[in-house]
Amino acid sequence: MFVSRLVIAIDGPAASGKGTLARRLAAHYGLPHLDTGLLYRATACALLDEGLRLDDIEAAVAAARGLSLTDFDDQRLRSREMGESASIVAALPEVRAELVDLQRRFAATDEGAVLDGRDIGTVICPDARVKIFVTASAEKRAQRRALELAGRGEKADYQNILADVKKRDERDSARSVAPLKPADDAVTLDTSELDIEGAFGAALAIVEKGRA
Ligand code: DC
Repeated sequence: MFVSRLVIAIDGPAASGKGTLARRLAAHYGLPHLDTGLLYRATACALLDEGLRLDDIEAAVAAARGLSLTDFDDQRLRSREMGESASIVAALPEVRAELVDLQRRFAATDEGAVLDGRDIGTVICPDARVKIFVTASAEKRAQRRALELAGRGEKADYQNILADVKKRDERDSARSVAPLKPADDAVTLDTSELDIEGAFGAALAIVEKGRA
């Protein structure tokens, strides 16, 4: 049976559940998955490890260029501190430009791929067959993030996390290059009132409709 190439672009704000949905969709369709937030997190981590500033453009570009995700501890990359730092380096246009090819190459496999981030449907894969913009209220996202961090044994004060989520939304949406926004042809999926299974079912329905 001929199955045509399927690229699924998943974008959305911090802690919207896009990562979980992207992982589940990739497993369901047997496609490779790239969490593009990790690229910005690892770039930030490399700078911090060297004692460099997050707005040192030359060093940030060099870190992005030499990136190998396996060099970093996954739990550290996924920490709150690294999310905040990633959002700062991700606002540098030179860093974004450096990471475009890597992401596009990932999406260019024969079978397709699932990528999640902020600008997949708008910049990285504008021709993706299916684009989903996953969102949820800031309060719901902060609640989920608090539970997730607590589950990993990290400090998780709800009010601090809510403030973080709002600050990151603001920075990711206001930047001049590739800001967080739905592509014109994206389907928005609001997961505020859905559990994981409900959100996955809704995402699956969007993909099936989009690829038909
Ligand atoms: O998805 P995440 O929380 O791991 O992303 C961390 C930061 O990286 C996020 O605040 C903004 C940035 N980012 C981006 O600008 N573009 C992407 N495609 C993915 C992440």
